[in-house]
Amino acid sequence: MIVAIDGPAGSGKTTIAKLVAKRLGFFYLDTGAIYRAFTLKLIRLGFPIDDLKKICDILDSTSIDIRDGRLFLDGEDVTELIRDPEVDKRVSLVAKIAKVRERLLPFQRRLVSGKNAVVEGRDMGTVVFPKAEVKVFLTASLEERARRRHKELIQRGKNLSFDEVLEDLQKRDEIDSNREVAPLKIASDAIIIDTTGKTIDEVVEEVVSIVLQRYKGDSILST
Ligand code: DC
Repeated sequence: MIVAIDGPAGSGKTTIAKLVAKRLGFFYLDTGAIYRAFTLKLIRLGFPIDDLKKICDILDSTSIDIRDGRLFLDGEDVTELIRDPEVDKRVSLVAKIAKVRERLLPFQRRLVSGKNAVVEGRDMGTVVFPKAEVKVFLTASLEERARRRHKELIQRGKNLSFDEVLEDLQKRDEIDSNREVAPLKIASDAIIIDTTGKTIDEVVEEVVSIVLQRYKGDSILST
């Protein structure tokens, strides 16, 4: 069973998806982390964003692995490094490249094959898992999303102004929503949850109850 959670940057996807997966005893997959890891690798190699052949060659020789909630890029644990503001700034430029998406698509499906999973990203319900049993689209106002992201960055010791964070989110939204391949959009059968002004617990409860309602009677809980 797949629970697909999509939404824009800062909508609370990662926090919510992780907690929902924990509650249900499901495997959790953050697909943004995969795009972030590859972006980090490109940054380290001089960010050859206009050289498609080079990008594909690099991708072919890259290994991305997820073990115990940690993400490994060519064997190195980059779980924290992929959240750097430099990666934030550039990841959308990498994620809009059709060839990159094409190559990462089967990889994402393989990672959850045969598992009950909560998957989060931008195109989970529309492209990667169009048959997901539950589809949720999380959203929140731009200001609220920027406020959350700013707080998170400050907590991690990154000294960015609120306006910088807001501007960066706006840019990412624009690129993610307007790209030709698999843009951020709401699947026709997704349930929309606006998380503005809601607590994390409230949203987790809402998503878990959607899953349980859909599967009333079926034993999907691991505990
Ligand atoms: O969810 P996130 O902020 O970690 O995602 C980082 C970027 O990756 C985001 O700006 C768009 C891209 N992304 C994507 O294009 N498709 C996905 N399924 C997940 C993320």
